[in-house]
Amino acid sequence: MTSAPTPIRAMNERLQMVAGGGPTVIDGKALAARITASLTTDVEKFIAESGVTPGLAVVLVGADPASQIYVRKKVALTEQVGMKSFEHRLPADTAQADLLALVDRLNTDPAVHGILVQLPLPPQINAKKVLDAINPAKDVDGFHPVNVGRLSNGTGGLIPCTPLGCMKLLDTVIDDYRGLKAVVIGKSNIVGKPVALLLLERECTVTVTHILTRNLPDIVRDADIIVVAAGSPRLVRGDWVKPGAVVIDVGITRVVDAQGRRSVVGDAAFDEMGHVGAITPVPGGVGPMTIASLLTNTFQAASQALAAQPHESGTGGAEPEDEALIVIPQVDSTTL
Ligand code: GUN
Repeated sequence: MTSAPTPIRAMNERLQMVAGGGPTVIDGKALAARITASLTTDVEKFIAESGVTPGLAVVLVGADPASQIYVRKKVALTEQVGMKSFEHRLPADTAQADLLALVDRLNTDPAVHGILVQLPLPPQINAKKVLDAINPAKDVDGFHPVNVGRLSNGTGGLIPCTPLGCMKLLDTVIDDYRGLKAVVIGKSNIVGKPVALLLLERECTVTVTHILTRNLPDIVRDADIIVVAAGSPRLVRGDWVKPGAVVIDVGITRVVDAQGRRSVVGDAAFDEMGHVGAITPVPGGVGPMTIASLLTNTFQAASQALAAQPHESGTGGAEPEDEALIVIPQVDSTTL
């Protein structure tokens, strides 16, 4: 007896017919470009209707080369979609108290709707203390315990950017998640745990694995969806993945081969994945979606800040016609 195709398999069969066989390579760069284009229109409308420009403050402490590149990209894209960017570069020897004082100022600055403190922070600074000091309503990274709690009980809040990006990538190839088996490799607070919660929210059966998990290949072999965020180049081999499964590869590692050639590889052995249903490439998969999600979160934070403002009423307040003009975009985390 053959079992009925799962929604994911039915979807992938259709996609493979279109693509002429082989896996669907989920183009994160193109999806991120579509999201930022649509956000540009939303931001323009938001500014015209509210007079408020969404603003993102990015704080970089020290001169870590990778962090500098990420911050530069975040600032450039924030401005590209029409939002304001407030960049704060602090020296590597910044005292924790000074960083906390800056976070405090940003928390109360009405022009700042989102705050991101780039990680890693120098050793003299307790990152948890700093992240916990960010106003949860401005916590566009979704790392504050209030947002973590909201995610865990499914009551909205700001969702961490990389997991949000992973879900949007999955949404391009999966219609109905209910009952699908998802395996998450990696249990970090930034990716593994939140992505597992998002998959659970969609009613997947979720297994979270990590470095000490026994029989990892056997567990992965059973999965319809695999999200790998282990930071271990080419960890997931072709024979770990069943035909038709979807692989989201969060890993990105720079490697040099025996001939001295440099390349960037993911946590999945991409060249061994000819039989899978869909897979994200590295680079060009999850990476661009992380920044797109940061911008989405900043817009969500600005929209919610505006909605939370007390409405003027009575004498001297906004006329009903004026109020009708203020359209507050609603961002529903369950549809993201
Ligand atoms: N460093 C690497 N990834 C991230 C991220 O998602 N947020 C912050 N704040 N720092 C990072």
